[in-house]
Amino acid sequence: MWEYSDKVKEAFLHPKNVGEIKDADAVGEVGSIVCGDALKLYLKIDKDTGRILDAKFQTFGCASAIASSSALTELIKGRTLDEALTIGNQDIAGYLGGLPDQKMHCSVMGREALEAAIANYRGGRPEHKEGEKVVCKCFDVTEEKIRHVALANRLTTADEITNFTKAGGGCGECKADIERILKELWAVKETPASPVERRLTNLQKIALIQEVLETDIRPLLQADNGDMELIDIDGNRVLVSLRGMCSGCTTSHVTLKGIEKKLRELVHEDITVEEVR
Ligand code: FES
Repeated sequence: MWEYSDKVKEAFLHPKNVGEIKDADAVGEVGSIVCGDALKLYLKIDKDTGRILDAKFQTFGCASAIASSSALTELIKGRTLDEALTIGNQDIAGYLGGLPDQKMHCSVMGREALEAAIANYRGGRPEHKEGEKVVCKCFDVTEEKIRHVALANRLTTADEITNFTKAGGGCGECKADIERILKELWAVKETPASPVERRLTNLQKIALIQEVLETDIRPLLQADNGDMELIDIDGNRVLVSLRGMCSGCTTSHVTLKGIEKKLRELVHEDITVEEVR
């Protein structure tokens, strides 16, 4: 039996914005009934301001899926598309007072529906980019999605990936691949015992930031045809410019957060990463 917060129960029993927008400007559809969860998000958008005037959803799924969809629509109504894209799955879960670990994939599904709808409005894109590798065939989850979700939520185990994406939750044949991806993502090197407790001089800190970016971050971005350039370091502010596929990507904020988390983990807990355009 899952432990649901009062907000999840309320959003499940009395969901907001259920239904279809007949003349929607954008539609985002993710998941599949075969896989157990599906969400269709409709947006009405002010074409002059790019502001979301209305949002409705239809979902097939559990209590958490309904609650997450309701929360998503409440969070995005009234925001511009760019503002809406700053909402991550953690914000959806946070709005609901948290979700059980095993149900975090519902918040991820909400975020993906939002991305799909905005991509649909801005010209559309294939469900998977060309060349993306599907790791979990049971739930149609790509390697890119596993990396993004792991970075955004700081996931380190295959079981956590299953909770957030469902990948690995079927036949289990993809578990070894998921573990390999996570190993590449996080275990590039052994984390020093307590990096944030070390007293680094400014020169040492700058050198360590450069090393982490070169050895831990850029190879991962380059593997997805992206890249980044270190522009400056001002105290604990790290200024970077995203390149290649990362530049202008709708999930670039997720990439920046992932870089920030890695630097906080390996260099200093107060580091912030900002994009310079
Ligand atoms: S291939 Fe991933 S669970 Fe079956």
